[in-house]
Parts: sequence; structure tokens; C-alpha cells
Amino acid sequence: MNIFIAGGTSGIGYSLATHYLAKGDHVGICGRNPDKAPQNNFKNLQVFQANVGDINSISSALQTFLADKKTLDLFINCTGSYAEDVAGEISYEEAEEMLQTNILGTANCFEAARKVMKGQQEGKIAVIASVSGILEYENSSLYTKTKRSVIQIADAYRRALKPFGISVTTIAPGYVNTEKLRQLNQNDLSKKPFLIDIETATAIITEAIEKREKLIIFPVKMKWMMKSLSLLPSSLLNIIMFKKAKWMKKD
Ligand SMILES: NC(=O)c1ccc[n+]([C@@H]2O[C@H](COP(=O)([O-])OP(=O)(O)OC[C@H]3O[C@@H](n4cnc5c(N)ncnc54)[C@H](OP(=O)(O)O)[C@@H]3O)[C@@H](O)[C@H]2O)c1
Repeated sequence: MNIFIAGGTSGIGYSLATHYLAKGDHVGICGRNPDKAPQNNFKNLQVFQANVGDINSISSALQTFLADKKTLDLFINCTGSYAEDVAGEISYEEAEEMLQTNILGTANCFEAARKVMKGQQEGKIAVIASVSGILEYENSSLYTKTKRSVIQIADAYRRALKPFGISVTTIAPGYVNTEKLRQLNQNDLSKKPFLIDIETATAIITEAIEKREKLIIFPVKMKWMMKSLSLLPSSLLNIIMFKKAKWMKKD
């Protein structure tokens, strides 16, 4: 298979890349800083510099990857920008990056992939949202609102691309033990409920893509917690989620 992973230079994206490379697939990965990708000896791996916030940047990286290949079998968008903004403020720069990457970047990845796949009448696209985007409540963070948008943008592309044989899988993970999550939490993940390791997340994500699932929420305990919370009135949810964010921020 030929697989392109936007945001594949670290974390969940790189772990997915190594999973497919171990199976003998050809994999292209990109990030804004390609040097982030760990040193490796994978002969089927190509690393590109691209910013998903710029349609020309991501399209040209994808075209270069496909130059000597006939098909694009799978495109995964693992890019994401995160800042803690429920119980604290974020800067304009953080908000701008979050909107560029999480919203415009999501649409740009769908556009770049669908242009190639429409001609093939076959293909799979997957995008990483977040379990936080499952809940609808007024006072959620900008991050949560962008990830809720990712789920909705993916729904729209799923409907539009179905007649062309292209499936869209939305991934909504709970806490996954990545370097980025550790950095954001000063290396203390003790307050992250139902934290899972990156290998488990990779196995769940690849299986969902293989089965062409529409939406996968994991781990299961987090999924049921979110489903239960979604039954609460919005006013109560606002209070609970704000208190949770405050508690998580305290050392
Ligand atoms: N870890 C978790 O607990 C968790 C939970 C729920 C959802 N998620 C989501 O899962 C995804 C991966 O998270 P992670 O923890 O693996 O983070 P990560 O290691 O920081 O991975 C993000 C990847 O995306 C790239 N990227 C970011 N912005 C980009 C842009 N504008 N254009 C191109 N590439 C860009 C990064 O490289 P550069 O910075 O060099 O561009 C990196 O390769 C994110 O969407 C995140 O929101 C994570």
C-alpha cells in the first residue's frame, strides 16, 4: 500500500508510520519541521516538509510522494495543535495556529487526498479528532471546539466522497501517552483518566481504518464516560468540565 501521513513526524502519526512500514508498505510523512522524525533505516519511508494550513504545501508534498507510484491507498491526517484554554487564557498566536492547523488544515488534507483518490475511485482517508470533541457544551475550550469541527468536517466529506469509493474514518482518542502530551503536562500524566500507551492506540486506529469504521472513540471506558456526560444538561456539564480542567492544572 502507498500511505501518506500528515503529522507523521512524531507521536501517534510516527507510530502509525512504523506500523505500516513494518508490514512492507510505502509511507510518506510530513510535518512543518521534518527533522523531528526520529533517525531510522526504513527504506520505504519518505519525509517531507509541509504545513497543512497551506493547501499548496500539503498538495505538493503529496504529489512528490506519489511521483513514482500509481495509487494513494490511505491518507491519514494526524496533525493537531493544542493549548490548555479552559481554565486559563491562550495567546492570539496559539489560537491562530490552532484554527489554521485543526480546521483549515483538516479541510486542506481532505482536499489534497480527494483530488488524487477521486481519479482512482478507491481509497481511505482518516483524521484524528479527539474524544473531547464528542461533547457539546457552551464553555468548552477552543481546542475542543476545533476538534468538534474536525468531526463535523469529516462527516461532510464522508457523505461527499462515498460515491467515489472513498471511506472516511474519524478517530477520537482519549489520552494517549505521547511526548507532546508529556511536554504539555510537565511530564506528569497522573491526572489523565484512562491514559493508554501509543502502541495500543496504534493497534486500535489501524484496525478501525482497515474496517472502514466511520467513527472510533477509545479507550472504551473514556467512550462510556463521554456518552454518560453527554446525557447531562449543558449547564451542569459546563460546571463539571470547568472543575475538571482546574483540577488537572493544579500541581
Ligand atoms: N496525545 C493525546 O493524548 C491525544 C488525544 C486526543 C487527540 N490527539 C490528537 O492526535 C494528534 C497527534 O497528537 P500527538 O500527541 O501525537 O502530537 P504530536 O507528536 O505533536 O504530533 C503532531 C504532528 O503533527 C505535525 N503538525 C502539527 N501542526 C502541523 C501543521 N500545521 N502542518 C503540518 N504538520 C503539523 C507535528 O510536526 P511539526 O510540529 O513539526 O509540524 C507532528 O508531526 C493531534 O491531532 C492531537 O490533537 C492526541
